[in-house]
Order: sequence, then C-alpha cells, then structure tokens
Amino acid sequence: METRDTITIQKSSLARLVYFVPLCSLFMYFSKQMLFGPNVLWLQGVTVTEDLQIIFKDSNGKVYLAGQSDFNKPDDRLPEYCRHQQNNDNMGCLQDNHNQRIKIITDTSGNKRVSCYKVQREGLKCVNQMVKDCYNLGDSHWYGGFEAFNQMWPLKKAMPSKEGTLLTAQKEEPEPEGVELAMGPYVSGDFGIHKVVLANVLERLFISSSGVGIMVSKDSPLYLSFNAHKDGKICLAGMYDGSHYFSHLGKPPVLEYTVCKANNVKEISDYMRGRFLNKPGGTPSLELFHHPIWSTWAQYNRKINQTAVMDFADKIRQHKFPAAQLEIDDRWTVNYGDLDFDEAKFPDPKQMVASLNKKGFAVSLWTHPFLSLSSASFKEAMHHKYIVMARGSDTPALVRWWNEDMSALLDVTNPAAVLWYLQKLTNLKDLYNISSFKFDAGEAHFVPHAHHTFEDMVSSNEYATLWAELAYSADPTSHRQEVRVGWDAQKLPIFVRLFDRMSSWDRQGGLVTVIPSVLTLGIIGYPFVLPDMIGGNAYADMIAFEGGAYPRRELYIRWLELNTFLPAVQFSVVPWIYDDEVIAITRNYLQIREQYAKKIVELAEDSVMSGFPIVRPLWWIAPNDQQALVSEDEYLLGDDLLVAPVVVEGARKRDIYLPAGSWNDKLRGGLVQGPTLLKDYPVALEELAFFEQDKVSDS
Ligand SMILES: *[C@@H]1O[C@H](CO)[C@@H](O)[C@H](O)[C@H]1NC(C)=O
Ligand SMILES: *[C@@H]1O[C@H](CO)[C@@H](O)[C@H](O)[C@H]1NC(C)=O
Repeated sequence: METRDTITIQKSSLARLVYFVPLCSLFMYFSKQMLFGPNVLWLQGVTVTEDLQIIFKDSNGKVYLAGQSDFNKPDDRLPEYCRHQQNNDNMGCLQDNHNQRIKIITDTSGNKRVSCYKVQREGLKCVNQMVKDCYNLGDSHWYGGFEAFNQMWPLKKAMPSKEGTLLTAQKEEPEPEGVELAMGPYVSGDFGIHKVVLANVLERLFISSSGVGIMVSKDSPLYLSFNAHKDGKICLAGMYDGSHYFSHLGKPPVLEYTVCKANNVKEISDYMRGRFLNKPGGTPSLELFHHPIWSTWAQYNRKINQTAVMDFADKIRQHKFPAAQLEIDDRWTVNYGDLDFDEAKFPDPKQMVASLNKKGFAVSLWTHPFLSLSSASFKEAMHHKYIVMARGSDTPALVRWWNEDMSALLDVTNPAAVLWYLQKLTNLKDLYNISSFKFDAGEAHFVPHAHHTFEDMVSSNEYATLWAELAYSADPTSHRQEVRVGWDAQKLPIFVRLFDRMSSWDRQGGLVTVIPSVLTLGIIGYPFVLPDMIGGNAYADMIAFEGGAYPRRELYIRWLELNTFLPAVQFSVVPWIYDDEVIAITRNYLQIREQYAKKIVELAEDSVMSGFPIVRPLWWIAPNDQQALVSEDEYLLGDDLLVAPVVVEGARKRDIYLPAGSWNDKLRGGLVQGPTLLKDYPVALEELAFFEQDKVSDS
C-alpha cells in the first residue's frame, strides 16, 4: 500500500511537473514578453517595440498616436538599452550604437487632465546625419502648424467614414483632404519667390480633434513633412543642412518634441498654447481695429507719387469712408534700402504728410530688409558689416526677392545694424511725421544659403523673429505697424498680415483661403491677424507682383462681407471703381462693423490675458461636434457671434451649420436652435448671414 502510494504520489508529482514546467516557461515567456520584448521600451502610456514602433496609449489602453522611429539601421541589429542612462518608470532610452538613440521621458509637470511625454532623438554618428520619426495622422482632424498658400481647415481632414459623409457646406467638387507638405526644412518662405508651401507664419505646434498635441522644440533643426503625397503621416526629422540649420559646434543633430494628450481639441489647444506659446504683451493700436487701413498697393501698384496719394486720400474723404491710416507702399524711394522719398515723385513729402494728417490720416510707409546694390545704404552697411555675409568670405551674401535679382540683406542679428536701420526709420518719423511702417518680407527662405551673421542663428527662422522685433521697436508706443512674418513672436503687440491674397475665389490664395488662414494663425498664438486687402492684390503677374487685374465686382463684395468681423479691415482696390451700389454696400458693412468694434476691441484686450484668438473656429464652443470640427467657411468672433459668409462664386444660398445653443439670426430675424444645419439658406449678393448666441434663453 505504502509503496503503491509512494509511486502514486511520484506519478502525480511527475504529472504535475509535466504541466508545471511548460506552464511555467509559458508564464516566464509571457512575463518577459510583457516586461522586455517585443516591447523593448515600456513606460506607463508609451511603448517602443524592438522594430522601433512608438505607441502612445491613454489610460484606457486606447492608442491615440502611433508611429515609427527610423533608425536607418540594418534590420537584424536590435536596439540596446542606452549605456549610462537609467531606464526607470519615467524614462526609457534605446540606442543603436554609434548611430542614434531615442529617449522618452514622462512629463510630470502635473496637469491631471493632460499627459505628456518628451521624446528626444539624438544622432550619435556625424553632424550631417538625419534622425526621424513618423506618426500616423490617423482618423483625426489636424490643425495648427503653418500658414500655407493653399490653406485648408482643418490642415488635414480625417477621411470621411463610410457610413454617411461629413456634411460640408457649399462644396460641389470633392475637396482635397488637406495641405500636403513634402519633407523639407520647416522654415518660412515667400510662395511667389521660393515656391514653397510654407508661407510666412509658422510654429512647431500641431493639434488634433482627438486631443493630441505635438510641439517640437525651437532649438531642433527641424525638417518636417505633413501628409506628403497623401501618406497620412507627419514626419519629424532633425538634420543640419548647413543652410537653414547650421551646427556651430559641429555636433550631430538632436530632435526634441513633446507629445501631449487631452480630452478634446479645445482642451489640447488651451494646454499647448498655455504651455508652449507666449501671450501678446499688449494690443496693437486700437484704432486699427475700429477703422480701415487704406493702402496704395493694389490700387496703384508701384505707380505712386504725391499727386496720386493726395488724390487717393481726397477720394476716401469725398466718399466719407473712415480711415485709421494711409499706407504708402512700394515704391516711394529711388533705391530700395535708401529710406527717403524719391524727390521726383514726392516733391514735398513734409507738406504731403501734414496735409494728410489734417485730413485725419496717420501715414505709414512700406519697408523691408533688402538693400539695393545701387543704394547709398548698401555702401554704408557694407562698410560697417551690417549685412548678411557669405560664410567664410568678406563678400555680402546676395538675395533675390520680388523686386530685384540681387540685393543685400540687413543683418538683424547685429544690434548695431538694427540701431542703424531704426535710426533711418526714426528720421522719417522726425522729418515728415510718419506714424508707422508696413514691414514686408523677413521670411527664413530669404536668408542666403551658406551665410554668416554677426550672431549665430539657431535656424534661419530666427531671422523672422528678429525682423518682427525690429518692427516692434520702430513704433513701440502707438503700435500701428504690421509685419507679415511670425515665428516665436506672439508676445509682440502688433498686427501680423496674411500673405498676399490673390484676387480669385480659389484655393490658390483666393477668398476661400482667408478663413482657414485666420483660424490657423489664431491657433498658433497670433490673435492680431491683419487679413490682406479686400478683393486681394489684383496681380496681373503674380511672380513680378505687377498690378492691374482688379477683382470682379462679385468677388469684391463677398470679400468685404467675409472680412466684416475679422480683426482688421484693409482696403486698396477702392469701392468706387465699381459703382454706387458697391459704395453703398461697403459703407453698410463698415457700419455693421462699427457696431461690433467694441466687442472686437474687448476680445483683443482679452487675448493679452488669455492668449485666445479673436476669431475662433466653431469647435472652440463645440469641441466634440463632428460638424463643427470641419467647418472652414464659418467663423466665430469671440464665443457667441457666428459668421457664415459666401465664398463660392455665383452662390446665392449656402448651408449654414449652427452648433448647440440658441442663435439669433441677425440677417433674417428669429431664433434658431442648434445644433442644426440650415440647408440652402438664401444669401443675396449684398447679404451676409450671421448669428448671435441668445444669452437670455441660454441662461
Ligand atoms: C502720378 O501718378 C498718377 C497715377 O499713377 C499718374 O497718372 C500721374 O501721371 C503721375 N504724375 C506725375 C507728376 O508723375
Ligand atoms: C503727426 O501725425 C499724427 C497722426 O498719426 C497726428 O495726430 C499729429 O497731429 C501729427 N503731428 C503733427 C505735428 O502734425
């Protein structure tokens, strides 16, 4: 019995062992899988697999961002844990020796509603290597980033789901899903000259409708692609190209970015702006919110003179239009860079300005950072080395711009050069009572390749920041100036102008791009948007910026309507080249604007505290509303005034989407309950549909 028992016991323990050993190995295998592989880097909420996929998950385990780190290595080589780097609960690091590494750090800055991770990609090989991560844009809508000539809002739409297409108003032909940006240096440029998608204003901030935010560090030599060839990806790369990004210490590139996740687009927008962007340090001149700027540019192009300017002013007054200031554009000088009036065209500028002042116009002058080689300023600046030089030589680095094939460029990194330039502007103020300036250009792409500046720049984008700061210093009290560049310059209390609009309806810089552009600037921290001229720039030749092609009457009227509630109004092509009806319509919309000017000014003043845009997307008040997320032909002034202009040629009706709330129809009267889509809402040529939240029935 006993023996048998023993045998039985042995048998059963053996049997147990038969199960136990494989179970145990299986358990150990899965534990190892869970702990180490194939997820070779694992932090709470983010995983990097051995084939270098990066996966971000929320607290419910749902993936909100996934991508691929590109180590550019032979497939059989696995990344290792970094030496001399501790991997712990909050930090993980993998590397491919002598090639590159990825380090992810949990951000513990302590906001309970938002979780963030800092990703650091570091080259270990050589100065001109590239480090790159690509993420799927997924099924979210994306916003922010950059001003583009063919702006869209969202910057990229999620592809419509199979059941039921997203309702988009006014669209007949299928719309592209978003702006496509091929891999290249993420720096600003002039579309006309540089043929780049990236225009004047950009920040390294992207946010999505699912509450994801990506912010790339200012110091990283960022190359970026966005939905390039419709690949559905955003790729972030770090590379020193020796031109836009130059490694002054000869070190390999470091790319650093932060990924954050909040509940929705509004929450992530607020969080990212609050954490990474500056707020304006004040407002521009309040008069510029109240009354239009009148520019000579589209109306006269370069054919200006004293008589023409006075005639322009007189006609504005004869037609009893209000004016904040009159802007004398290109070309009032003999040589570009010589900041004094051409005596042949302007025999008595002092008297002219005095007379304009008497008629109630402040006067501003167009200026730019280019110095013509035939200018006296160039000789002076060359002598003092106030211009951007060619690297490793004693010669100026020359630059092509829209007026000249070869000019020198002011070295804005040199404080003495900035003072010298400012002194010339001050002279104009002192001599003629010029009030302020329109600062043109300043984009990174104008900085010549292989340049040398007084102070090293981290990137050519820095040129834009310094140019905007110079612009601020030229008029630090009245703030009547405008710039058209923006890069890390949100704190300046000045207007930022959209890139030149074309006198067309289309996506190539036409009317349809105005709302998307204004919204984009707002989301990346620039509330004081100066939309370009009513009706566009009337370019007959876009490359030479030659004028003469006036906008069609209908386009001019629709443009005016759309612009009614934007932060500022700028005229150049004048209403009286059309007919009395256009003059009357113009007067009507300026009167409507005047009724809301107090509200616009209050919003401008609020933005100093909040950083909030003045003009807001519909999702600002309805962040989870699918329709509000894709609306690009409506905007909000503040939280409670919804504007739905017509942006389609020939249209006398449009669909209008109203998010949740009670809306007073200001055009037709009556109260409408949202959310609702008003199909085929009639809007005659001289009409603008707008709605105001009904405060009484809301409270
Ligand atoms: C001034 O400019 C106007 C408009 O371009 C032109 O018609 C006129 O001939 C010019 N006058 C002089 C004196 O140059
Ligand atoms: C200078 O121009 C401003 C308008 O910007 C005006 O208010 C002021 O009176 C002018 N000064 C003189 C001395 O004319």
